[in-house]
Amino acid sequence: MARIIGGLGTTHVPSIGKAIAERKQNDPYWKPFFDGFHFVHRWLAREKPDVAVVFYNDHGLNFFLDKLPTFAVGAANEYRNEDEGWGIPVSKSAAGIPNLSWHLIERLVADEFDVTICQDMLVDHAVTIPLSLMWPGEAPWPVRIVPVSINTVQHPLPSAARCFKLGQSIGRAIDTYEENLKVLVIGTGGLSHQLDGERAGFINKAFDQLCMDRLTNDPESLTRYSIPEIVEQAGAQGVEFLNWIAMRGALTGKVIEVHRNYHIPISNTAAATMVFDNQPAVLRGQHAA
Ligand code: DHB
Ligand code: FE
Repeated sequence: MARIIGGLGTTHVPSIGKAIAERKQNDPYWKPFFDGFHFVHRWLAREKPDVAVVFYNDHGLNFFLDKLPTFAVGAANEYRNEDEGWGIPVSKSAAGIPNLSWHLIERLVADEFDVTICQDMLVDHAVTIPLSLMWPGEAPWPVRIVPVSINTVQHPLPSAARCFKLGQSIGRAIDTYEENLKVLVIGTGGLSHQLDGERAGFINKAFDQLCMDRLTNDPESLTRYSIPEIVEQAGAQGVEFLNWIAMRGALTGKVIEVHRNYHIPISNTAAATMVFDNQPAVLRGQHAA
């Protein structure tokens, strides 16, 4: 059976791609952020996930404001990136795993999530930057992915409660997939940031810390925030935290926070990285015996 080994949340700021291309990981500006990935690299080398389910938001590469699904799931063999206009190199492609995608889609629709099914899908920096951070180097990324896009861009957005339930539905679906796969669940974006308008540059450290603590100890409490409350507290783009809430919803076992890094700012964003171990119920049972 497939097994969810853990969850990871990370910021997806595009200029990270430029810093990687220019090998600036040890520059004073970038070091506190990139240093937060040393643990991640060791953890991934030990856990060796086969698959990553990635909750993210598209920023206008695959979907634009004219047609923007609330929830969309990729079911392609390959996900390409293209020039998004940020001045960073176009990323290599990510490999897909269509059979697992279709299984998740079947289970989601059975759970009354009427998702958009994408057999052809470009992925933007919200997918490629996290993968580049997690597996640096030239080789193909060692995981196949299922991209799950959540609309955090064009209001009305899905509620935090709905995103948590989306994650729970995907978590249950992974647990019932018959192939022997180790699955990592990723949520990208955030934490607090606002890129435009009167509050451009807005960051809220206290709220970010509350969100990270709650994600670990009491994720359901985050689902009581309304979208306007999250926008007020985290900024217009800080609402990308919905992707982290979905990731946390997908962790179906006993969840333990094993890593956290928080650094202000990277570009306009409060940059955060978190890793959670997910100990499956069956293993826990063996432990108790
Ligand atoms: C920035 C942050 C984002 O989440 C994004 O999608 C684009 C830019 C930034 O801080 O520059
Ligand atoms: Fe973003």
